[in-house]
Amino acid sequence: MTDPLHAFPRSAVAPTLAGAFHLPTRVRFGRGVRAALGDAVAGRPCLIVTSEAGRERWLGNDELGPVLRGLDGPWLDGVPANPTADVLDALVARAREEGWREGCLVAIGGGSVLDAGKAIAAGLACQGERVAEVAGAPSWLDDRTVAPIVALPTTAGSGSEVTSVSVVWHRAPGGGPRQADDGPAKASLAHPSLFPEIALVDPALTDTLPHQQTLATGLDAMVQAAESLWHRQGSALTLPLALRAMTLVYRALPTALTQPDDKRARDALAEASLLAGVALSQTGTVACHALSYPLTDRYGISHGVACAFTLAPVMQHMLAADDGRLAALAHAMLGLDADPGTLPAALARFLSQLGVGAQVRAALGTREALLALLPEGVLPERAGKGLRDVGQADRERIVGAAWEDAERT
Ligand SMILES: [Fe+2]
Repeated sequence: MTDPLHAFPRSAVAPTLAGAFHLPTRVRFGRGVRAALGDAVAGRPCLIVTSEAGRERWLGNDELGPVLRGLDGPWLDGVPANPTADVLDALVARAREEGWREGCLVAIGGGSVLDAGKAIAAGLACQGERVAEVAGAPSWLDDRTVAPIVALPTTAGSGSEVTSVSVVWHRAPGGGPRQADDGPAKASLAHPSLFPEIALVDPALTDTLPHQQTLATGLDAMVQAAESLWHRQGSALTLPLALRAMTLVYRALPTALTQPDDKRARDALAEASLLAGVALSQTGTVACHALSYPLTDRYGISHGVACAFTLAPVMQHMLAADDGRLAALAHAMLGLDADPGTLPAALARFLSQLGVGAQVRAALGTREALLALLPEGVLPERAGKGLRDVGQADRERIVGAAWEDAERT
């Protein structure tokens, strides 16, 4: 008699890993949930954090505007893309000057704004320590009161609304060639108190997202899902989310780019971003993220594009140690009879059609410029977190293959 368990295809029984899960954020997802902001704030004084243009844009939004006008508290509306620690310190100082003391911090924007909201909340909880110092010693927050954050993502996305991490840049991205005395480009400020209290994920807030931001943020969601998928801490509690997120981006991103008014595509990307964020919040990222930072730091390449640049060759690398999760991905993305070995080529084609390699090639110009970045793309604590370690020779092979893909486009 056939053992029913072993009659399953291999992908149906993976993952088999034990796992833990901690996500204290209350999440509401769906078109129209932005109107619940008033309920989420529940009469508390607010500090409203947005980008420079965000204040006018969101005050003019049909359902959000009236709620925002009714909130009690100052606006901190100057968050730039990829804010540096100095910029975040200045925003913390401005919040103090505005006299804001307690209540909740409302962050409305893309990943930079949501991350900035967390860093500002951390800075305000300290007594004069700079944001970069807190990023280096997050345990300082253990006995501090960090303001609760209500997060409304307007891109799809960083997933920052459901993670406890804030990216803090030490210098402005796109700063050009490496200087001899340059330190690390960025730090991750991470602490459990930085999980937003509430995330209101309303796909309607992404409906007018421009083409390049739709592309870059959609790719970020895809790579975050992929990296969570092949992370060693991926478990039965995270892998289904990562699988679904990757599949949604694969199906919906081309439509959202060619038909930006397609609400189903926008909804799918918003869902993918949320699911990828939840999966990532429990695992972290691996090699694609580690290799991406110098591309953003030196050449100002959008985070999602920089991460997606090495996605196909990193997947090829991980396939050799697949325990069934990449087989499951192949079945979900490409069809039930798909051979997992065809996944990297399918993804490389997908990314090439979206112009990922072309953007990186246009920014860097030569393969030598790319190879010169390799020593800076080393984050040892991440390189060993995947199904397979990514050593120095692997990194060279991975970026070399990514460049060859780029040259074919
Ligand atoms: Fe990312």
